[in-house]
Amino acid sequence: MNSHHAEHEAGIESAIDAALPELDLDTKTRLLAGRDMWSLPALPEIGLRSLVMSDGPIGVRGVRWTAADPSIALPSPTAMAATWDPELIRRAGRLLAQEARRKGVHVLLAPTVNLHRSPLGGRHFECYSEDPYLTGAIGTGYVRGVQEGGVGTTVKHFVANDAETDRFTVDNVVDERTLRELYLSPFEMIVAGAKPWGVMAAYNSVNGPTMTEHDELQNGVLRGEWGFDGAIVSDWFATRSTAGAIDGGLDVAMPGPRTVYGEALAAAVRAGEVAESTVDDAVRRVLRLAARTGAWDRATPVVADGALPAPVDGVALTRELAGRAFVLLRNKDDVLPLDAARNGTVTLLGAAARDARVLGGGSAQVFPEHVVSPLEGLRAVLPEGVLTYRIGADPTDELGVAGTGFALRAVCRDADGAVLGEDTLPNGMVQWFGDDLPDGVTLDRLRTVEITGTFTPRESGLHSFGTKGLGEFVLSVDGEVLFDGVAVADGLDPFEAFFAAPSERAKAELTAGKAVEVGLTYTVPDLSGAPVRTISCALVHREPQLDGDELIEEAVAAAAVSDTAIVVVATTERVESEGFDRSDLRLPGRQDELVHRVAAVNPRTIVVVNSGSPVEMPWRDEVAAVLLSWFPGQEGGSALADVLLGHAEPGGRLPTTWPARLDHAPVTQVRPENGKLSYAEGVFIGYRAWQRGDTEPAYWFGHGLGYTGWSYEEARVIGPDTADGDVRVMVTVHNEGARDGREVVQVYAARPDSTVDRPHRWLAGFATVDCAAGARATVDITVPMRAFAHWDGGWAVEPGEFEFHIGRSVADSRLVRTVTSSEGKLP
Ligand code: BGC
Repeated sequence: MNSHHAEHEAGIESAIDAALPELDLDTKTRLLAGRDMWSLPALPEIGLRSLVMSDGPIGVRGVRWTAADPSIALPSPTAMAATWDPELIRRAGRLLAQEARRKGVHVLLAPTVNLHRSPLGGRHFECYSEDPYLTGAIGTGYVRGVQEGGVGTTVKHFVANDAETDRFTVDNVVDERTLRELYLSPFEMIVAGAKPWGVMAAYNSVNGPTMTEHDELQNGVLRGEWGFDGAIVSDWFATRSTAGAIDGGLDVAMPGPRTVYGEALAAAVRAGEVAESTVDDAVRRVLRLAARTGAWDRATPVVADGALPAPVDGVALTRELAGRAFVLLRNKDDVLPLDAARNGTVTLLGAAARDARVLGGGSAQVFPEHVVSPLEGLRAVLPEGVLTYRIGADPTDELGVAGTGFALRAVCRDADGAVLGEDTLPNGMVQWFGDDLPDGVTLDRLRTVEITGTFTPRESGLHSFGTKGLGEFVLSVDGEVLFDGVAVADGLDPFEAFFAAPSERAKAELTAGKAVEVGLTYTVPDLSGAPVRTISCALVHREPQLDGDELIEEAVAAAAVSDTAIVVVATTERVESEGFDRSDLRLPGRQDELVHRVAAVNPRTIVVVNSGSPVEMPWRDEVAAVLLSWFPGQEGGSALADVLLGHAEPGGRLPTTWPARLDHAPVTQVRPENGKLSYAEGVFIGYRAWQRGDTEPAYWFGHGLGYTGWSYEEARVIGPDTADGDVRVMVTVHNEGARDGREVVQVYAARPDSTVDRPHRWLAGFATVDCAAGARATVDITVPMRAFAHWDGGWAVEPGEFEFHIGRSVADSRLVRTVTSSEGKLP
């Protein structure tokens, strides 16, 4: 810590010392209870402004959940990890800080650093990797970047929130070594490497206590052992009890104001159940967080307005990052990159090529101002007459928020039907939190919200209409009431109204180009007892469903007569989202059939996989190329054109092993039994498990091709001779191809004949390097001392020789070196 930094921190602490006695108990507990969905109350008496938080992690949604308040949408976290480039992610973090500042947000509810324990995890796309070291390194870059922009982070979800099924009640049973070596490890790395200002406590329990009350992990490990000095914020609606949470180390219960803190906490102190000093400690940490972000007038923020990093061009960075994350899994006969001048005609197929799927669902959702689809991206770069588009197969069989062709507004009325206020809507969704209501509308008087306006279809035929949300709805199309009924919850998740599937309610025969009136009236339920007063409903719609056979025939016919076929296959929001896990890894709809059929007629078939997490690809050996684009963010189509045409290299490497089939995957159990989910596989998840099994995955962790070829010429190991026991590995690679390229050099440790039951090889270090065609470059990779350690009641290092396998993936080792560990127990 430099002296300026120490002085600054001391200044914050003395401001807190002075302020604490000025606050009475009720004020303090009110602060910890939260004010509304996204913020804490202001305390003007001490110059504290309302601290505002927002999701994360691929953009900053802000305090409104609507397309009317757009944000830059970066690629999915899996894509960020696929860059294997913490410095690039740090730049993304700075962009996010810039977005947060633009929206008045002090703390970003991100990054998500739970692990890819199973490919079935519903939020797999929102986490980085199956490997804790890669996760920790990417997360460290992210947190540094955001906080360099003066905005706080809450690293989440602490800890072992690796699946969604029964997330509010599940008790994850994880042995200590597994917790330390895998699930806690990214948090520990980020705390050490980036000093996050916040952490979010998960919904689930770990070995008994629920995480918001986990004294041992929150107070003991996170604060005590690792020295975390930030605030712990609950996941939304996660808290269960007043004394349990405050004594367990939780500082802020969200969302407010009706939480286990506030009046309940003040009463617990007065009853002698909770010590006031425990409340003071929590308030201290909240004031520290506010001070760091600049929400507190009595303290200087960590980053003063005048010292902000240079502005980031969000569109350009999002496009660059997307291409750097694309993973080229297969490239037979170098079919890629395409040569626009020589490759002739191209047929582009897939519903997602036109209606791009750029992000995963749930709280990670943001609303970008624009989206570049693959079709638009390719149209912009291919010469006239070269490109043909066909749908081929549509994976979505459900209705989506009314968008294309709709012109809508919300009309708010009181119980007598008198209009209180109106607002134009960018689409069919209404999501109003607390007092965020159209002008003139108050929650007390609001009785109905009518989503109303016109719809001009782009296709003739039978259009489907429906509702999303819970409560009473009346739906009319073209003057006729088609539905009048009630939607009730079927689960306990308070987010059900947000994340549940939309319901189809009626169909109407409509004519292309002919506008009709549409209306959905929602009766606002009694919200007086609700923890957060939210108005949430949507008008949903689907275009006439085209005949699946015809779509495929048409696509195959077009592909057969063109020089190259590009098929974009995708998952849908029903497959990858928050609140539920996946039940299989198949591509929805008839997409597999489409690829098989196209590959049979066109040897130059390129498949672009638009998903945030693994899918089965039964056709992978039949096609010329497989390019993984993840959820590529708003500029995905431009990045795809860059990469397909070779203006950029696909820079990504797999951050997680891709199974050929779900039943080959090492961990498929995500459903608790009797409330418990046993992490019985211990430390053997992902490649750590695949290495011990009998089946080969489709593609190994670390795999990814570029557009050039590499040889690994030399590796030199230096150390361990530094004070911290780190080892340096200097690796010389040779770019043997005719194009400039970028390589991700990976170092895996191994311990043959170990007395510890440990993985065959595990990631110990990595670095990326740019290298001109024909040139050589030497990269300097640091392998931290911890890479040699295992948990044995404390960190321990087995004495003797370890091996380093240096290469292109966990299964593609090019050079082997040995290193002798500095043995013994580690601090
Ligand atoms: C998610 C968190 C998110 C919060 C607020 C929760 O359901 O688990 O990741 O930050 O909602 O949207």
